[in-house]
Amino acid sequence: MTDLVVEGGKRLHGTVAVQGAKNSVLPILAATFLCDKPCVIHNCPELSDVETCLRILAHLGCSCFREGDTVGVDASGAEHYEIPEKLMREMRSSVVFLGAILGKLGRAVISSPGGCELGPRPIDLHLDALKKMGVEIEEDHGYLYCTAPNGLKGNTVSLSFPSVGATENIMLTATLADGKTVIHNAAKEPEISDLADFLNKAGARIYGCGSDTVEIYGVPRLHGAEHAVISDRIVAATYMAAAAVTGGDVLLEHVMPPHLIAVCAAFSDMGCKITPDGKGLRLTAPTRLQRIPTLRSLAYPAFPTDAGPVIMSCLSVAKGTSCFVENIFQNRYRYIDELKRLGAKIKVEDRVAIVEGVSRLSGACCECTDLRGGAALVIAGLAAEGQTVIGKTEHICRGYEKFEKYLARLGADISLKDQEESRENSGKADG
Ligand code: EPZ
Repeated sequence: MTDLVVEGGKRLHGTVAVQGAKNSVLPILAATFLCDKPCVIHNCPELSDVETCLRILAHLGCSCFREGDTVGVDASGAEHYEIPEKLMREMRSSVVFLGAILGKLGRAVISSPGGCELGPRPIDLHLDALKKMGVEIEEDHGYLYCTAPNGLKGNTVSLSFPSVGATENIMLTATLADGKTVIHNAAKEPEISDLADFLNKAGARIYGCGSDTVEIYGVPRLHGAEHAVISDRIVAATYMAAAAVTGGDVLLEHVMPPHLIAVCAAFSDMGCKITPDGKGLRLTAPTRLQRIPTLRSLAYPAFPTDAGPVIMSCLSVAKGTSCFVENIFQNRYRYIDELKRLGAKIKVEDRVAIVEGVSRLSGACCECTDLRGGAALVIAGLAAEGQTVIGKTEHICRGYEKFEKYLARLGADISLKDQEESRENSGKADG
């Protein structure tokens, strides 16, 4: 087991190239299963979730290769339609393979993805929509047995919530279905548009992504496609938080400003200066951040729930008291108890977190509770006085490529250490 060890108080400066989007590459890799010719995906980040995706594709009978940030998938001979529980449990978002397997083979067996660190992760919206498209679903002992005895038929689906995963699953199921599918109240995240761009390059007919109404006209087959994944807007927000919380000055390259409007607004509200600079964005932080009276997470293009934890680390050392309202996930605040070990003053009441900014955090031992909560602990450690030792770093590896390396290049004193070594040296009680 490895810990991240951070010596706080270093001002970050320099340039960081932001990785490809995890939440884009996962559904796009699932979509390659629909293609009967090889696909090549560029700007693929080195993440454990991507490795899990490739293992699932290999299990389904695809041949996959990776060269640097380029991944190739050939699903032409693939005929397997079952994802075993072990692989499903490794990554709950593997539910997005359901639509791809159904779309290609007309049947699928997956284990229920179950909950995760963020609380229950139901897939009722996914399943209700698939049933409207002719899919029959039997649930038995935690497995979903899906068939389409009369084939997949396009239909009109109205989502009660603009679910990202449900929108993606419907798109994947509808691409090769008979007829037209319309999704009302579709998710508008950039990752949805990126998935549609890839599918359309492979011969699909998908229109309206980025709006709340998406139309998919079924086609008989998909050929191969070559595609570069968009930049990861949540990783960009994370490096912005690292600069903001250390009074730093950092240029983020390969970002897509239109995807970061709500995020940039939050950092500006905290007193950061954000300016376009060549192909990127430069963030220059004030000596001390200002509070944000109220910040809410909502579906895109509002402030993204996934950037909430790293913003909370910034607000923990801002001048004044801030209020954050989490409107997407039931149990997003588990990391806050760990933040409090560094001296953060945060009161949580259901979905509302009241953050009383302190002038200084102090280093401590803590543990990641989930991917974005783990990133928040690193951001807090960068700001804290003294040493912070962060355990269960496997959560962070799911979504951040070479996180400690890129932060070190910006001037952070951060490294990976074996747990025994880091806990011994820290001389601090466990956890
Ligand atoms: C995607 O999750 C992202 N994951 C999440 O990022 C992101 O936080 C989320 O969208 C919201 O933007 C990937 O893309 C792999 P949802 P997803 O379906 O698709 C409820 C990260 O850190 N819901 O939009 O699971 C659900 O419980 C991750 O990178 C139902 O009730 O999100 C949640 O409260 C975390 N029934 C809300 O909707 C359903 O059938 C949003 O879920 C589906 C969802």
